[in-house]
Amino acid sequence: MSGSIGQTVEVELQSLVERAADLVLEATSLDSLEEIERSFVGKKGELTQLKKTLGSLEPDERRAAGQSLNESMAMVAESIGARRALLASAAEAEQLQAERLDLTEVMSDLQRGHLHLVTQARDRLEDVFVGMGFTVAEGPEVETSWYNFEALNIPEWHPARGSFDTLFVELGEAEEVMMRAHTSPVQIRTMENQEPPIYIVAPGRTFRTDTADATHLPAFNQIEGLVIDRGIGLGDLAGTIDSFVKAFFGHEVKTRLRPSYFPFTEPSAEFDISTPSGDWLELGGCGVVHPAVLQNCGIDPEEWQGFAFGFGIDRLAVMRYQLDDIRELVNNDVRFLSQF
Ligand code: FA5
Repeated sequence: MSGSIGQTVEVELQSLVERAADLVLEATSLDSLEEIERSFVGKKGELTQLKKTLGSLEPDERRAAGQSLNESMAMVAESIGARRALLASAAEAEQLQAERLDLTEVMSDLQRGHLHLVTQARDRLEDVFVGMGFTVAEGPEVETSWYNFEALNIPEWHPARGSFDTLFVELGEAEEVMMRAHTSPVQIRTMENQEPPIYIVAPGRTFRTDTADATHLPAFNQIEGLVIDRGIGLGDLAGTIDSFVKAFFGHEVKTRLRPSYFPFTEPSAEFDISTPSGDWLELGGCGVVHPAVLQNCGIDPEEWQGFAFGFGIDRLAVMRYQLDDIRELVNNDVRFLSQF
């Protein structure tokens, strides 16, 4: 075999390597790179095919050409490998960018809710009374007639039982267990369990057979106040109510007591607050704790005296937020509630 065949292989090799190098550099995707790899160094690739022509060379030339061919194939494979690494990292970066979650996005439309108006009023009342030295007490919503009536000086025959429009629960004796009609039973529970002096407020839900209208709900909220100490009288009651009303509504609001009747206080009164239009609005009932109530709880009325008051928190919210109808508080209309 002549040396020129060996030279021809060398020339062909060089041009193949140059072409492969150009194509590799131009490849912009892993797929096209794979295609180039196949066409040069794959089973049927041009460089691989060239190997088959070596058999016709002289042994020396064959060795030299075989070595050049191997080196060329290694060079092409290396440049393909380098380009592949580059394209792969670019593809990965592109994928990462495409799948990226922007966790810094500001969800400006997300609106937080707020506490119900009655809860706001109740929290504020607790704050005001705690600021005046009271503690907060609680009692059950289902009561026996002892706590709801008898211990409060309302025996079975007493006409005042009728005015409480009580919802009875079918448990035990008839009319023995009931939904509490007021928070006054918490007075009894506190006095039974605590030695005087006592300064408590007891907010909570109360229930009556009242039909819902603009000023009534069958399930509503009251807050009870009870003070038992030495030498306590009507003046302390009037002063406490005035201080709380001014702290809650503002200093321009005045208070007054109007004679009334409750079996568990003597004397008893309704207390009113002044409105901007100059009228008076009834807020709740109050009075000096009746000696019979103290005795029912094992407290000596000769040594201890006290006053109590109770009023509706829902009605208070109606006044504070100037609502036309108390039922708005339980209709659950978001258009209404989101105004506050
Ligand atoms: C009482 O319930 C007495 N326990 C208050 C009391 C406590 C007097 C301590 C003396 C000493 P009365 O039934 O008036 O009283 O109710 C008090 C307040 O509860 C009312 O002034 C009103 O604000 C509120 N209330 C009564 N019924 C309803 C109702 N159906 N819906 C909304 N609020 C009501």
